[in-house]
Parts: sequence; C-alpha cells; structure tokens
Amino acid sequence: MTVIDKISTVSEMQASAADLIKKGKRIVLVPTMGYLHEGHLSLFKIGRRQGDCLIVSIFVNPAQFAPGEDLATYPRDLKRDLALADREQVDIVFTPDAQALYPQHFQTYVSLEKLPEHLCGLSRPTFFKGVATVVTKLFNIVRPHIAVFGEKDFQQLAVIRRMVRDLNMDIEIIGGPIIREPDGLAMSSRNSYLTPDQRSSALSLNQALQKARRMVEDGVRQSKQVITAVTELIRSNPETRIDYIAICDPETLDDINTMDRPVLMALAVYVGNTRLIDNSILVPEN
Ligand code: PAJ
Repeated sequence: MTVIDKISTVSEMQASAADLIKKGKRIVLVPTMGYLHEGHLSLFKIGRRQGDCLIVSIFVNPAQFAPGEDLATYPRDLKRDLALADREQVDIVFTPDAQALYPQHFQTYVSLEKLPEHLCGLSRPTFFKGVATVVTKLFNIVRPHIAVFGEKDFQQLAVIRRMVRDLNMDIEIIGGPIIREPDGLAMSSRNSYLTPDQRSSALSLNQALQKARRMVEDGVRQSKQVITAVTELIRSNPETRIDYIAICDPETLDDINTMDRPVLMALAVYVGNTRLIDNSILVPEN
C-alpha cells in the first residue's frame, strides 16, 4: 500500500515545507527527472540517512533541453517511480508541471559564467542555465537543508556547489558515487534508448576510464597520451561518436596537460543518437 505523499502544486509543496520547518524537521531534497533507476535510489538512501523528511522531485525540466534534444521522448513512468520511491521510504514526491514552474512571461534565469564553458556546456550551451534555474526554483519551493546530487553528472554537481556558494544559499550539497550496471555501464535513464548492439558499444565509456586509470598507474602523466589511447579504444566500437574526452581540474574544470595531482577524466560519447556521459578521478601516485 502506498503511504507516500504525492504533491503536484507549488503552493501545496510550499505549505508542506513551511510546516516541516516549523516542526524543526531537517528536509533533504533529491531532484530528479524520473524514470528512476538504482543510481537515483542510491541518492535516496544517502538522503534518508541525512535528515528527517526526504523529498524527491520528479520534473522533466524543459529549460535544460535545447531544441532538437530529447525533451518529448525523455522516458517517463510515474506509476513505477512512485512505487520505487515508496519502497525507498521517500516521504514526499513533488511532481510539478511545466506550466506551474515556467508560466507565461517567465524571464528570470540563473547562469554561471565560467563552469559551463567546459565539457558538456560546449555542446549544450544552454543546459546549465536550465539546470541552475530549475534547481534554484526547487530549492526555493522545497526549502531543503540538504540536497543530494550524483557524481555521474560531475559538472552539474560542480555547477550546483558553485551556485550555492556564490548565491549564499544555506544548503548543504552532498555528492553520491556513480552507480553502474554489473558490466560497468553507468546507470542512466537514457540507457533505455540503446539497442542491444549500441548497449555493448556503450561499455567503451567505462572501459576508456579503466584504461586511463591503468595508464596512470603505469606511470603515464601526459594527458594527451591518455586521451589519444582512449579515443582509439572508443572509436573501435561501432556507432560511437566522441563529443569530448577531457582531463581537467575537478573544481575549475580547466584542462590539465600534466597529471601531477588528482584530476577529473570526463567524457561524452554519442552511441547512435544517444549521448552518454561518464567520468572518473585519476589519482597519480608518485
Ligand atoms: P536525472 O538525470 O534524473 O538525475 C537525477 C540525479 O541522479 C542527478 O543528481 C544525477 O547525477 C543522479 N544520477 C543519475 N545517474 C546516476 C548514477 N548512475 N549514479 C549516481 N547518481 C546518478 O540530473 C538531473 O536529473 C537533472 O539535471 C536535475 C538535477 C534533476 C535538474 O533538472
């Protein structure tokens, strides 16, 4: 039996948040676009341990999709999501509609200057503006003490952390590790787009990260050498097209040529028409 509270209107969510705060409850928010998988559920488990009231938002945010991207076809299954959230002891699922969050005449956005000029921001120039705006709106509506995001979307997590600091939002941001399928593919709602052949080509993202880690363990320090090797590995898989492979500073996301400290290796690869991302921290030992 479902005991979870499903709230769809902004005013009702604001009233519930005010009530929880009055009662001294610590609110934890996990924002999602739904079509939940173990990656999302792992964040719920982290969130559950952090506060008294776990709120999950499910909202496919139009502002972070560019024209021609997959807004219309983004996978959705609210009934299944509610059952999964219930099983994970989520207290409230907030499911606003697009009209409520972006009414006519909406014109106020949150955008960062530098972080979006790297990695995913290069091929998706309006993406992080859409993310920062909707996350700010969700923070204002749900008023969490803590919010949990996945390291799978490393740049998104960096953008949120920067935004929270820059705008003095009194919210603790917690990152959760990447959850993978048994064969290593990072879990993603978009994996459902892949054909069986594409699914096996998609394994090359994690294989590339593993190869990079091995090269660094073996003493390679030049980023270019690693990037050349993993480019070849990915290209040898059918239907792959590399968007970017980068080795960069985990905080600023600026490129790093010589790996003399822990670095972020991040990649985005189209497999067929599906754009997949993955990342890992590479730690050079002396
Ligand atoms: P979505 O892709 O649904 O992801 C929701 C959260 O789950 C994000 O913080 C994401 O990093 C995390 N996540 C996804 N796959 C994961 C995995 N394999 N392991 C661990 N965490 C994973 O990211 C978004 O939605 C949106 O951009 C959002 C933040 C909700 C704003 O619209």
